[in-house]
Amino acid sequence: MKRQYQTASIEAADLLDRRVEPHYGKTLTRLLAAHALAEKLTAIGYQRALAAIDDPDLAPTIRKNFVEEKKHARLIYRLLEELGTTEEQADRSMIKAAKSPSFAAPRRFAEAPADALALLMASLSLDVTGLLMIGVNYRESSYAPHARAAEIILDEEEDHEQFAASALRDAAERFGAERVNAALREWLPMAANFFGPPGSGFTFDCLRYGLKARDNGELAELYLTMIGRRIEQAGLSMPAMTKRYPHALV
Ligand SMILES: [Fe+2]
Ligand SMILES: [Fe+2]
Repeated sequence: MKRQYQTASIEAADLLDRRVEPHYGKTLTRLLAAHALAEKLTAIGYQRALAAIDDPDLAPTIRKNFVEEKKHARLIYRLLEELGTTEEQADRSMIKAAKSPSFAAPRRFAEAPADALALLMASLSLDVTGLLMIGVNYRESSYAPHARAAEIILDEEEDHEQFAASALRDAAERFGAERVNAALREWLPMAANFFGPPGSGFTFDCLRYGLKARDNGELAELYLTMIGRRIEQAGLSMPAMTKRYPHALV
């Protein structure tokens, strides 16, 4: 699809001075509210993991990730504030979406107690996916402040992704393949759903305005191919899932 606005071509002032059609601002605000909430729930998950996991080898990484996720959430809420939407208003606008399958993984991480295995699953489901969404979509956003925030976030998400990748390689030995496979069956459908429903009117608008570069379905497929390869390389089994959103076990 041809995008109407090029990468980083729009600044907050263009919206505030109404040089861009109002629907662009509405679409952007909704996208930023979803991004901010995902970062915030991930930060809460890491905070809870820090309190629950008593492993001196893991603690520094969990603490680092917690601080960075909190910073990511702040960065995105600040973009919303610039456009006149408070954190509270943004979160309130997400109440319904937050209950949908696309938020199941971050919600689960923020609400359920995490042990070391759940931490790995959350990282595979939130950091690896986040790296794709931000690296592929938001880095090239037509909204310049979001593209700039994406560059900052990406640097740190690359570390989070490395942590998930190396923890996955050792997981079978550390936890036993059967336990890890059971956890993958529980988490991977949620992880794939984190990209959101494909072909929605909202995503169509995001693509048209250049707020996203790829459709959700394409990114979910990319993720499943990549993670599937790594899971098999680690001697684990990729769970069989339905092909369409919301993905479920078959
Ligand atoms: Fe993040
Ligand atoms: Fe992360």
